[in-house]
Amino acid sequence: MTVARAYPETDLNVAGPNERTVEFFATTGARRYAEIGVYKADTALGIADVLGGAGEIHLFDYEDRVAAAVARLHEAGHGNVVAHPNSRRLLDSYNWSLMRMLQEHGEGVLDYVFLDGAHTWAHDALAYAIADRLLAPGGHLDFDDYTWSLRHSPSMNPDAFPEIEQLYSDDQIDARQVALVVDLLVRPDARYEEIVPNKVFRKRVAA
Ligand SMILES: C[S@@+](CC[C@H](N)C(=O)[O-])C[C@H]1O[C@@H](n2cnc3c(N)ncnc32)[C@H](O)[C@@H]1O
Repeated sequence: MTVARAYPETDLNVAGPNERTVEFFATTGARRYAEIGVYKADTALGIADVLGGAGEIHLFDYEDRVAAAVARLHEAGHGNVVAHPNSRRLLDSYNWSLMRMLQEHGEGVLDYVFLDGAHTWAHDALAYAIADRLLAPGGHLDFDDYTWSLRHSPSMNPDAFPEIEQLYSDDQIDARQVALVVDLLVRPDARYEEIVPNKVFRKRVAA
């Protein structure tokens, strides 16, 4: 039996590309880009325009969203796209696709990872751990929505979506879960240097 998600997986009031990410990406010279949580591919399209046909664009999201994103990039003339879809089964996520990428291609195969998916510890602590392996020394990890919480989410707060209380405790609903990943796992890691506060971290090249 397939247990499909019947709840809003994150805020989807995203309008337009994440300009900070696209602008910062353009300064890095990165060529191998991964976006974890793509939605309508607004940011991915901005990144593709920066790359101008060079490099690789790896897209991770639900299969319907990845298919639409790949089609949008193809229509815009960008063929350097790799799809990493996952199902909407309750415990499926981009973490399985990330695992497969690590299994098939090994470490250090990406220059830039934009983590903009579920924004929860349950998904994104593991996503960070795998992305860290996939990221080459000198590469960048970019986190969206440092201050986000389920409590303040327009679509997932308990008033808008009472079932959230079946999925998360009050503590988890109140917590800024992207911030927990950044504060507890990334910032204290001496292998990373904070470049854009609360957002972009560079993996140091070993001396
Ligand atoms: C905030 S949107 C991404 C916005 C996009 N990065 C942009 O800049 O336009 C978050 C995305 O994460 C995806 N997502 C959330 N939970 C997921 C899961 N368990 N598996 C796959 N994708 C997930 C959603 O489908 C959604 O498209």
